[in-house]
Amino acid sequence: MKKNILITGGAGFIGCHVVQLFVQKYPEYHIINLDCLTYAGNLENLSEIENSKNYTFEKVNILDVEALTSVFEKHQITDVIHLAAESHVDRSITDPLAFVKTNIIGTVNLLNVAKSYWKNLENHLFYHVSTDEVYGSLDHGGFFTETTPYDPQSPYSASKAASDHFVRAYSNTYKLKTVITNCSNNYGPNQFPEKLIPLCINNIKNNRPLPVYGKGENIRDWLYVVDHARAIDMVFHNGKSGETYNIGGFNEWMNIDIVKLLCQKMDGKLGREKGTSEKLITYVKDRAGHDLRYAIDASKIQKELGWEPSLQFEEGISKTIEWYLENETWLDNVTSGNYQKYYQDHYGK
Ligand code: NAD
Ligand code: TYD
Repeated sequence: MKKNILITGGAGFIGCHVVQLFVQKYPEYHIINLDCLTYAGNLENLSEIENSKNYTFEKVNILDVEALTSVFEKHQITDVIHLAAESHVDRSITDPLAFVKTNIIGTVNLLNVAKSYWKNLENHLFYHVSTDEVYGSLDHGGFFTETTPYDPQSPYSASKAASDHFVRAYSNTYKLKTVITNCSNNYGPNQFPEKLIPLCINNIKNNRPLPVYGKGENIRDWLYVVDHARAIDMVFHNGKSGETYNIGGFNEWMNIDIVKLLCQKMDGKLGREKGTSEKLITYVKDRAGHDLRYAIDASKIQKELGWEPSLQFEEGISKTIEWYLENETWLDNVTSGNYQKYYQDHYGK
């Protein structure tokens, strides 16, 4: 059976890398990118593949069940890779309901439409992309494994945890074939400049303060976005139905050390005197309920599927900085909202 794969959230940061990989690597698949283009969704991310024969974009909100059903029927969807979500913790603190709507209700809508549309559930896969933040905060050492109990601490992670539970419930109750991956913090090209790394790159470039929450001692495990997309490809094709796989970079950093690394590298690239950008570091009020440490044990996906990160952090950070410096227009557009015009120009009304 020919695969017509629905990738939701394909205009976002991680989604665009997944869409690109699948469109380019699998010309025999039809890739349907479904995205409602929130502030975080940008079709410019897909300019390299937007004219490919095996690619279609559908501007649809996952809260719109009728439109979702039409997309399944029109493209005879065989599989789903679900990335569409509200993804920023700080926004979840000011507007939790937006996260309940998209991340929980949107996911359940998608599960319902898939379950009703697919006749023989054996032949189809619902792949749900999730986060390590569902496991809570590692305040006393250790690592998150696939059996770590869920303990979400922010409205964002609570909404992702709920969506993971629904996916497992549909697998158990209706025998939908599902797989879930929980990944650590991603960085790389095309990330909206509200997250730590692109925000700092943008602010260093513009000589603006670098807001470090609290003491800057919180720890995250960072993975280059293309390595996450490679992992999704492997799990989609070789993962076991009903299983969970953790994905991580084996790469823990304190926030303040990352900010300093960005300052040092950018001083070099911008021809600034050593130490110039570090003066921009500004300690600000801590995030409410700020999780101290995330760290993934990715040995299951490594052993069972042979995945491992391909890029060292310093190399990935250099590539990321270069991408942002070379793509000034992208940065200007996402920060000014001009990418809405891009959509109109390319797809009309
Ligand atoms: P993002 O915010 O960059 O992109 C999200 C995309 O989803 C955007 O294109 C947006 O337009 C779309 N979207 C949002 N609401 C929608 C709706 N109601 N209907 C249709 N489309 C909608 O997010 P990201 O960082 O690319 O994350 C993608 C997925 O990966 C999310 O599920 C996130 O929870 C998960 N994840 C992210 C990270 C990370 O570090 N960024 C780590 C692990 C897991
Ligand atoms: P973020 O990129 O928002 O990812 P997440 O909260 O999902 O891990 O933040 C990464 C870390 O950086 C987190 O500990 C919060 C911190 N942070 C700052 O110190 N300053 C900032 O301006 C931002 C956005 C984040």
